[in-house]
Amino acid sequence: MMKRFALVMALSLASSAYAEDIADVWKAKCKSCHGEDGKAQTKMGQKESIDDFSSPAWQKHESDEELREVITEGSSRNKKMKAYKDKLTPEQIDGLVRYIRTLKAK
Ligand code: HEC
Repeated sequence: MMKRFALVMALSLASSAYAEDIADVWKAKCKSCHGEDGKAQTKMGQKESIDDFSSPAWQKHESDEELREVITEGSSRNKKMKAYKDKLTPEQIDGLVRYIRTLKAK
């Protein structure tokens, strides 16, 4: 009984630490172009007309699969958006897709 409780505690601690990690990955690897809030109000964002990830219309238009594909393989439309498959794990990429969903303007 106690053992099971300890396991559940360990798992929930691990997942909250994980959520923080993803925000850190975004800040370290994505923010410079996409902005902390995903609105792409950065030099690169303006130059390359990067989409505003907080826009509800954009959020609706892009499926999770499409986001995952661009992050994994890079954009076929714009070389500035590089492939992250060698730099991030599939779990981190999934985490980033979920993170991008949290950027949607309320
Ligand atoms: C050097 C600048 C740069 C960095 C760093 C960068 N991106 Fe991008 N990203 C772009 C550009 C430019 C585009 C627009 C590509 C296009 O028009 O297809 C883009 C497009 C995207 C798209 C697709 C948007 C759409 O509308 O289809 C996603 C998702 C994305 N980036 C996620 C990320 C994530 C997650 C990271 C960090 C791991 C990241 N990007 C890091 C420049 C960058």
